[in-house]
Amino acid sequence: MDHLKNPYSPGAGAPPSELVGREAILEKADILLGRIKIRKPEKSLLMTGLRGVGKTVLLVEIQRRAEELGYRTIFIEAHEDKSLGLLLAPYLRTLLYGLDRIAGIGNRARKALSVLRGFIGTLKITYRDISIGLDIEPELGSADSGDIEIDLPQLLVAVGEAALDTNSAIAILIDEIQYLSQKELGALIMAMHKLQQRQLPVLLIGAGLPVLPGLAGESKSYAERLFNFPDIGELSKVDAYKALRDPALNVGVDFEERALEKIYEMTVGYPYFLQEWGYKAWNKALSSPITYATVNAATMEVIEQLDNNFFRVRFDRLTPAERNFLRTMAELGEGPYKAGDIADKCNIKVSTLSSTRANLMRKGMIYSPSYGYIAFTVPLFDQFIRRVMPNYTQDHSKALR
Ligand SMILES: Nc1ncnc2c1ncn2[C@@H]1O[C@H](COP(=O)(O)OP(=O)(O)OP(=O)(O)O)[C@@H](O)[C@H]1O
Ligand SMILES: [Mg+2]
Repeated sequence: MDHLKNPYSPGAGAPPSELVGREAILEKADILLGRIKIRKPEKSLLMTGLRGVGKTVLLVEIQRRAEELGYRTIFIEAHEDKSLGLLLAPYLRTLLYGLDRIAGIGNRARKALSVLRGFIGTLKITYRDISIGLDIEPELGSADSGDIEIDLPQLLVAVGEAALDTNSAIAILIDEIQYLSQKELGALIMAMHKLQQRQLPVLLIGAGLPVLPGLAGESKSYAERLFNFPDIGELSKVDAYKALRDPALNVGVDFEERALEKIYEMTVGYPYFLQEWGYKAWNKALSSPITYATVNAATMEVIEQLDNNFFRVRFDRLTPAERNFLRTMAELGEGPYKAGDIADKCNIKVSTLSSTRANLMRKGMIYSPSYGYIAFTVPLFDQFIRRVMPNYTQDHSKALR
């Protein structure tokens, strides 16, 4: 059918035409936005979920809702190789200049800009080649110690006071939050604590892989009291059908029941995969309804495309030892896996595997759903790894010794 009219949107952060099954989390976000705006305390949100479940599209939707309510927003994506301070500073600069413009002389936005200037000054000592210009004297002794756990809370409190002073509210949205260092996450948590104590109108909404709640717990024991950690999961069968069917029905196209069933069976309800299957099946179909046969024909292509892109980019970043580790996991089925079972399969001690396991966690390939267990962060990765490394032999486990 007409490729131009294809209603599916496979891709990172690509908003689906129907954001299905996320009413509960969006309602939580609405309550948070509503309450912070009227200076009532409410827990911030850190959404966690596997790759491709729709965390980024949720953050984007929440940003849209925040702006509709009059919030000023900052949206950043944390990065393995870039510090939180560096990511935030340019956005805070723009935001504070904006607040400064609407307020009179001597306002708190000016003061916050001075604090930011001090903060940037210390960043410049660590990262020489940054060029965030700020034509203002630094506020000495504020947010300029060089220790992010001291500086970030001071900086964000200054920003919060500026917001209060100008009758504004600020939403900071951070994607891929698992890439923050322990110290940065600790600093953010402390900052949120200070902001909440003073009832300043700044809120944080983050999203990341499920490694997160553990990290935050280690960072600061009071994290649980400051944050909700909603789990963003795969869609139920009913919602998965809806995510496939509704966008098509909007343009007068339907699916055979068996076709929907087949897609659900292949995707297990993971939103990104649903979009890929919907997209390819649409392009292949000649007319409505989209049939089981069409979906079957599209399936080969989708898998090939996933293997060459979505899965492959992650696989390419792994060392041989890491690949062998994951291959051993996949040999044991779809997981979660007991760390002890993986070690047994390789005939080695659990401790021998610990550095490879830690590296895989750091790369965001695996996480620990509960004590002593590990699982893939990428849905269906076990199937991929069996496809790409078909023959499991003793060599795979030997290489891990
Ligand atoms: N509720 C939903 N219903 C239907 N499709 C969805 C839904 N949420 C997300 N999608 C689709 O799933 C895909 C992945 O979404 P998104 O990039 O937000 O996932 P993510 O969790 O951020 O993934 P990653 O961890 O890789 O960053 C997109 O193609 C998007 O259109
Ligand atoms: Mg994302």
